[in-house]
Formats: sequence, structure tokens, C-alpha cells
Amino acid sequence: MNKLDAPARLMVVSDLDHTMVDHHDPESLSLLRFNALWESVYRQDSLLVFSTGRSPTLYKKLRKEKPMLTPDITIMSVGTEITYGEAMVPDDGWEEVLNHKWDRNIVLEETAKFSQLSLQSETELRPHKISFYVEKAKAQEVIESLSECLGNRGLDVKIIYSGGMDLDILPQGAGKGQALAYLLKKFNSCGKRPNNTLVCGDSGNDAELFSIPGVYGVMVSNAQEELLQWHAENAKDNPNIIHATERCAAGIIQAIGHFKLGPNTSPRDVDFSSSKEDSVKPAYEIVKFYMLYEKWRRAELEKCGSVIQNLKSISSPTGVIVHPSGVEHLFQEAIDAFGACYGDKQGKYFRVWVDKVVTSQISSDAWLVKFDKWELDGEEWECCMTTVLLNSKSEIPSSFMWMHAHQTWLAGYAARDQEAWIL
Ligand code: GLC
Ligand code: MG
Repeated sequence: MNKLDAPARLMVVSDLDHTMVDHHDPESLSLLRFNALWESVYRQDSLLVFSTGRSPTLYKKLRKEKPMLTPDITIMSVGTEITYGEAMVPDDGWEEVLNHKWDRNIVLEETAKFSQLSLQSETELRPHKISFYVEKAKAQEVIESLSECLGNRGLDVKIIYSGGMDLDILPQGAGKGQALAYLLKKFNSCGKRPNNTLVCGDSGNDAELFSIPGVYGVMVSNAQEELLQWHAENAKDNPNIIHATERCAAGIIQAIGHFKLGPNTSPRDVDFSSSKEDSVKPAYEIVKFYMLYEKWRRAELEKCGSVIQNLKSISSPTGVIVHPSGVEHLFQEAIDAFGACYGDKQGKYFRVWVDKVVTSQISSDAWLVKFDKWELDGEEWECCMTTVLLNSKSEIPSSFMWMHAHQTWLAGYAARDQEAWIL
């Protein structure tokens, strides 16, 4: 279940809607800032966990709509489904735990008697989660009588109200908090409890996350009334929980800084055209390059020949980049073509990010870095699986020389205009 040999440096457990993902920001800028921070300094030795109320169907839909990273662990349907890795391998042990005093048919039978409840879409009715909509004013009364009815039928359930409209019925042992406790127990049993865990949320179904002992927590600035109220009643003296002043993913970045959990400057916020900052790690070098690439094409940095000169000086004169279509170019030529594209995406919706950066040191001074490079160009999503060979320069140990790069279209995400491809 764990990609790491040692305990994770940091485990971020985040809700998605209105926490990691800001639905009021069509440009997803805070999410992109988080992504750049995560891939440049945390991906290698830390764990990213998404914990959402969404079913697998709606979760996959969201991933196609927003520039989201691939998490190490995905917890869906309000803590009732846990999966590992990109292949989303289910944790069957967890599903078994949830069968205790649970009977989905009885829940459906009893809830049908409540006219205040309207059933959510079929995709959101899961083996251990039945969900409805209910008006805010009626929620409390419905929750009380429902608990009684289901208790009388021999079930032990948990009823959670979120976002001022969603009502979820789950087995008592389920929920986002219980799912996290289960994961932590699993990590503990193999001596790999993360050094720090940060939980992040905005609504009622996230409250449980904040009650797990030993975790740091951030309620994003835009948190819902029901979560703030839960906090005021249950956890207001806990110094390890903050209410951020920043919205969504920007609030998560803020919390990483507040609790001193590690670096919290996103490479998106650094001006690499003027700063002389070196990349300490190969992953940082990759993120830094694509930041420069995006900003150059959006004309968000000065058009200055030294940017192109610098790129050339860190690329091997004989190094090549293999284009996804199979054509190869010398780095030096590809950089000239890139230089000519200054501002070609100015004022357009054009964003670039990398996902799943994996670095391996293959000799004392050579690194192989593999990642997915995404470009969102208007409505078009393109992705290249990319491998880059970097050498650390002996005279300046914290800077890298690009030796070779190879890209392949990810199935289903090739660029429409394949000729227009640059780097
Ligand atoms: C998500 C789910 C929904 C659930 C809600 C609150 O929106 O799709 O079924 O009720 O989260 O947990
Ligand atoms: Mg939410």
C-alpha cells in the first residue's frame, strides 16, 4: 500500500470539492500552485490522499474537468471506499469492516417513508453509502427521527449533513475520519506512520478528519457553516487546527507554512527569469522548467534573450529531445523554436503542470526523471509521458545539465495539431 520505504515526511489528506478544488476559480490557480509545490518538493517522500464524498464515477469525472494530480491513495464515497495508486486497487479489508450492523435494503425501505428526503443520483448510491438531498431547515429533525427508525431496525448508522444540502447515511464505522484512522493503523503496524499528517476540509463530512488524534488540520477560509460550528463546539481550543484566511488549495499551502511542515513556496510564485535560485533536487528542476515554459508563452515574464541563453547553457550541446511523433531535435534547436513562441498564448487559457514526478539516481551524478506533462490549451487537454536524463554539474552541484528527453503521447491525450508541439 505504500510506495515509500520509510515513513512519509508528510501525508496530506484533503477533501476535493471546495477544498483542493475551487469551483469559483475557473483558472484553478490555487490548485495549480499546490500541484507545483507538491511535485517539486513532496511527491518523492510524501503521500497525497484525496478524501471525497464523491463516488468513483463522479470522482473520475472531476479529474477530467480540473487540473488535479494523481493521489497515492483515494478515499471515496465519504470514507466507504479506499483505493491505492493510480490503478485504484480497492482495500477489500475495509469494505468488510463496514458490513457490521449495516443493511442497505433496510436503509432504503425506511428512508422511503420520509417525504423530506429526495434520493441522489444512482451513481452516488454505493454499497455502504446512501445519499439524499434535504433542505437545511428540515435537516436536524429528519436526522433525529431517521436515527431512531434505523436503530429500531437493528442498524448502527452514521448520518452526516454536508454543504447545507447533502445527507449521507453510512455504517457507524465508516466516514472520512474512520477511514483515515484505519489507514494510520495500517501504517503504524508496519512502522511507517507518517511523520506529519495534515487534514484539509470545508464541510460537514470533513469534521471527523479533524478529530483524529495527532493530526494537523486546516479548515479553508471558505469552510461551510456546519464545519465551523462543529469546530466551535468540539475543537476550538485545539492549536493544531486552523481556519485559514486563504481559500481552498491556497489555504492548504498556508497551513503547511503555519505548522512548519516543510517548504511552502510554490514554484509558481517564483520569478525564475530573474532569480538565480538553483534546483536542489531534480524534481524541482523539472517543475521550474515548465513554469518558465508556461510563463514565456503567456508573456508573463520579460522577453529577454538571457532566458533562452540560460536554457541553452543547461542543455547538453549534443543532447536530443525525442518528439512524441518520433522525430528528434537537438535541444539547442528546440530551445530556439521555443524562444520564437514568446507570447503565443498571451491572454489565452494556457496552463502547464506535471504529475507523478519520479526521480531515480542512476549514478553519482546522473538522474532519470519520469513524469506526465500536461498542457491545457483552451478546451484541449494534452499529455506526454516524459523521461528526462539530468546530470549534476560537478562545478555547481545544485544545478543540472539536461542530457536527453523522450516524450510519448498519453493514450487519448495527443495534441490535435501535432506539428505545433515545441518542448
Ligand atoms: C459528494 C457526493 C454526494 C454526497 C456529498 C456529501 O457531493 O457526490 O453523494 O452526499 O459529497 O458527502
Ligand atoms: Mg468539500
